Amino acid sequence: VNHLLGIKYITKSDIDLIFETADHFKEVINRPIKKVPSLRDVTIANLFFENSTRTKLSFELAEKRLSADVINFSAAQSSVKKGETLIDTVNNILSMKVDMVVMRHPNPGAGVFLSKHIKAAIVNAGDGAHEHPTQALLDSFSIRERLGEVAGKNVVIVGDILHSRVALSNIYALKLQGANVMVCGPNTLIPQHIHKLGVKVEHDLRKALNWCDVANMLRVQNERMAISYFPSTREYTQQYGVNKNLLDSLDKEIVIMHPGPINRGVEITSDVADSGQSIILDQVQNGVAVRMAVIYLLASKIKN
Ligand code: CP
Repeated sequence: VNHLLGIKYITKSDIDLIFETADHFKEVINRPIKKVPSLRDVTIANLFFENSTRTKLSFELAEKRLSADVINFSAAQSSVKKGETLIDTVNNILSMKVDMVVMRHPNPGAGVFLSKHIKAAIVNAGDGAHEHPTQALLDSFSIRERLGEVAGKNVVIVGDILHSRVALSNIYALKLQGANVMVCGPNTLIPQHIHKLGVKVEHDLRKALNWCDVANMLRVQNERMAISYFPSTREYTQQYGVNKNLLDSLDKEIVIMHPGPINRGVEITSDVADSGQSIILDQVQNGVAVRMAVIYLLASKIKN
């Protein structure tokens, strides 16, 4: 594998190798000196054609911890605004001798498209409603850290499955590792043929939470909707929001995850997001080690 374009294109062994490597880097970044010289001769361009807080900063930090040279590009402040195409933009950046491109783009398949036109290694940092592979990897890494393993665990992904790249990448990653996966949300926000991916579908949140070991709560992605897929935010919250009362009334203690950004009080209340059952900030912390692993492993293929 010379790119990480999606979880769909990798194997269980790839995930195992990424996690073993991330275990090492997690130990490294907890040392007083958090940096290793591994990628001193590698240059990485972070190309963000869509907004990001966590992913952008996490990749940049991961690259710097590996001692790579890093350049950052944000479409909003670039010549894309003057009409420059994606391929022209990337080829101009690559002519400055860039080895690897990390790209977030609003169009599904943008990374696959780019991989056919450029020679550098590409890491997909989220392509529209398609895939967000490093998010799924850091999510599974965090489940493994909290519960010991991913295999055999019941994981429910709650909310806007239809517009979520996090959901699709998580489904692929969790299934590869032998987890049992359920999606839960209103009919209008669940893709019609999702069961073909081997996941259960549940519309009743309480039943879903009583079934699971882990609940990954998603944000409703209003920015990807031409029309509203649910009557109102208040009704969504009543049926699919998790609050402390609901959590405390379940048969067992479950782990709560969220990829961020959170809409506090909509899909999750603050007393749940900030509780001991939540591993939301562990996910963010683990993102750096997991991205270091992905970049390190891809860079070792460039250099060999
Ligand atoms: N989880 C995630 O992708 O967050 P950002 O959009 O802030 O990068």
